[in-house]
Amino acid sequence: MKNLAIYPGSFDPITMGHLDIIHRAANLFDKLIVVVMVNPVKHCSFTPAERVSLIEQCVGGLNNVTVEYSDGLLAEYAKQKNATAIIKGLRALSDFEYEFQMALTNKKLNPDVETLFLTTTAENMYLSSSMVRQIATMGGDISGFVPDVIHKQIIKRLKG
Ligand code: PNS
Repeated sequence: MKNLAIYPGSFDPITMGHLDIIHRAANLFDKLIVVVMVNPVKHCSFTPAERVSLIEQCVGGLNNVTVEYSDGLLAEYAKQKNATAIIKGLRALSDFEYEFQMALTNKKLNPDVETLFLTTTAENMYLSSSMVRQIATMGGDISGFVPDVIHKQIIKRLKG
């Protein structure tokens, strides 16, 4: 496969910011795999299967996008898939140091793959999955933060 990109993340849950990056990356590459991965420093609220399902419901209209789960190393996953690029979204300067460290480490582990950063749009700069979870859990309004198609499911799941 020529020009395959992977977009990894926790996606706990997917937000409008993630979906914006998915749309833009899908325009740049022949194929995009959104891969739900394990971030060892995060305790996720949604199971891997739930996160995959939520993303799948949001990308239904994009023919060149598929969604997978992996509990392995990102660099190894990129190698297995023969990926050209790892896509990351950058919100603010505060993301940069952590992302820079991961990009350099992944380059060392897999020199064949490039990490490409897409800056988020201004309206999504402040958005994070943890904020969405916190607001939904406390009964706040998360419409506009998550795609409409999964809005009710997220509230139901987090509010119980
Ligand atoms: O959405 P997140 O939590 O910022 O995504 C981070 C993620 C899941 C991409 C990162 O933790 C990751 O790459 N996990 C897979 C394990 C791995 O390869 N760790 C070494 C990274 S240099």
